[in-house]
Amino acid sequence: MITTAIIGCGYWGLNIVRTLYENPNCILKYCCDIDEKKLANILSQYPEVRITRYSEEVFNDKGVQAVFIATPLSWHYPLAKEGLLAKKAIFVEKPFVMNVEQGKKLVKLSEQNKVPLAVGHIFEYAPPVIKIKELLDKDEIGDIYYISSTRVNLGIHRKDGSVVWDLASHDLSMIFYWLEEEPISIQVTGKESIIKGKPDIAFLTLRFPSDILVNIQVSWLAPSKLRNTVIVGSKKMIIYDDTNQLEKVKIFDKGISKLEHSSFGEFQLSYRTGDITVPVLSNAEPLRQEINHFLKCVEFNQTPKTDGNSGIRVVKYLELAEQSLKSNGKTITVNSKNKCLPA
Ligand SMILES: NC(=O)c1ccc[n+]([C@@H]2O[C@H](COP(=O)([O-])OP(=O)(O)OC[C@H]3O[C@@H](n4cnc5c(N)ncnc54)[C@H](O)[C@@H]3O)[C@@H](O)[C@H]2O)c1
Repeated sequence: MITTAIIGCGYWGLNIVRTLYENPNCILKYCCDIDEKKLANILSQYPEVRITRYSEEVFNDKGVQAVFIATPLSWHYPLAKEGLLAKKAIFVEKPFVMNVEQGKKLVKLSEQNKVPLAVGHIFEYAPPVIKIKELLDKDEIGDIYYISSTRVNLGIHRKDGSVVWDLASHDLSMIFYWLEEEPISIQVTGKESIIKGKPDIAFLTLRFPSDILVNIQVSWLAPSKLRNTVIVGSKKMIIYDDTNQLEKVKIFDKGISKLEHSSFGEFQLSYRTGDITVPVLSNAEPLRQEINHFLKCVEFNQTPKTDGNSGIRVVKYLELAEQSLKSNGKTITVNSKNKCLPA
């Protein structure tokens, strides 16, 4: 039985509180937040949980083994650092930290103190995303030509970080998990529609070493919530719609084959339209899966699937995305030694 605590009990933190509270493998000992109203609300729902406004109280308690951090981004690094120094296993919500340097320091601290460090890349625990990974690994889709992802809704405009940090962190973690490679270039355009200095719409284009083109559209300014990813391969195509309750993943047996050249050097193309299949997926809740996995890592002192290094990888491309966005869409090339060079 792992003794846990959470720091940051806002919109998302409350989901973690509920999941920890209901989990038979752990005890939720503390809920910490600087906002007393949030704490009073927690106490009314979970009277046996201790509430506090002070993170030190959580970190000084020798009985606490694992701490979840679900505060705004700027607090992730200082709180995670404090927790790792106190030898607590730490779970940090996405986006991990504000820059790669902070991420490296946290990874080092987790290694030195021999405690697990996880980052909340929740989609890597989602059954549709895991199913797509299986399909890609079994070469069911063939060579991937491109991936196009749309993650848009109305709000919430976050105080720290742009829409890229908030929403594209999900797509980047998912795509890196699927492709197991890092981009060779990134180019981002966006717009500050509502608040000056805070981009709320962005279009990211990434190119990968295996000639895969990826486009990610993120927005806090859209009429409805869309969570749509299209993967087009040489054998089949996939549409992953995370808002569809029944058919999240559809596999289309569609494609185009190039036939022999005609005498005038023209291509002959054959368009193929076959069955559409909908794989049966587990209806396990991703957050529950993610937390169970982390608790197991704490129990057996193992490295989480989405560890600090996977957090650093996403933050690295968020930083580059921000750089491109600020320079009006300049393409940033990443060389083989992972140094970033302007194109
Ligand atoms: N995994 C996901 O799908 C997902 C979804 C939403 C949000 N998030 C992430 O969760 C984090 C929180 O997002 P949110 O939407 O819940 O934000 P929020 O603003 O609703 O909640 C943040 C909470 O942290 C508290 N807080 C701020 N500074 C603190 C400090 N120093 N110590 C203790 N408490 C502090 C605030 O009072 C607030 O209650 C962010 O990193 C966000 O990106 C993840």
